[in-house]
Amino acid sequence: MIMRSFNPDHIPVPRLDTGLDRALAQAHVDIEIGAGQGLHAVRYAQKNPGRHLIAIERTATRFHQLARRHAAHPGLTNLHPVHADALSVFVHRIPEQSIERIFLLYPNPYPKEKQANLRWHNMPFMQLLKSKLKPGGSLVLATNIEDYAGEAEEKMIAEWRFQLRTKKLLGAGDIPRTHFEKKYLERGEHCWNFEFINPGPAPEPDQSEMMN
Ligand SMILES: C[S@@+](CC[C@H](N)C(=O)[O-])C[C@H]1O[C@@H](n2cnc3c(N)ncnc32)[C@H](O)[C@@H]1O
Repeated sequence: MIMRSFNPDHIPVPRLDTGLDRALAQAHVDIEIGAGQGLHAVRYAQKNPGRHLIAIERTATRFHQLARRHAAHPGLTNLHPVHADALSVFVHRIPEQSIERIFLLYPNPYPKEKQANLRWHNMPFMQLLKSKLKPGGSLVLATNIEDYAGEAEEKMIAEWRFQLRTKKLLGAGDIPRTHFEKKYLERGEHCWNFEFINPGPAPEPDQSEMMN
């Protein structure tokens, strides 16, 4: 398998956001990419007061919905909405091995074959994303598309060297975490939820063995 490498040179620097530095200074930092209207982000921050969640959303409309939802909970100081493209934030602002959990909940599936290279697990950027996770840190990925789930599971393990900790099929009995999950479950669809673990850097080759 050919491992493509990620070239961050063409990724623009995000506009300055002072809240991001405050969030990154905390002990337990998580990031949600494509947080949409912020349902998961707000509930997650409420349920995890000892953690800090940076919720990144690219589109203005959804970001403003997320910001409004956050503003309705003034005490929720451990949620940090960021209006930006996640690629630029990760490339330019997130230190290596600093994040404990990354959430990718119902990313755009890019179902057309000619757009397959835009799926997160097919992007060389995944290598950089993984490098920002602490060893033992997790990446949660959810999708309602079976083919996408199968392809992502294979790539995350075989190409990006994550370990699979849990794989769950969600259905009508599950409480939806996001607006998209709610829509899919109400339609009677199933959703796949994966938790992948970053096992950390590969061990250095044993020098004594190499010399033999
Ligand atoms: C299908 S929606 C899912 C939204 C939400 N996670 C949910 O489940 O309700 C995907 C979201 O990811 C956002 N998104 C896609 N690529 C992004 C990127 N590079 N940076 C930030 N947000 C992104 C889109 O704007 C959109 O809001």
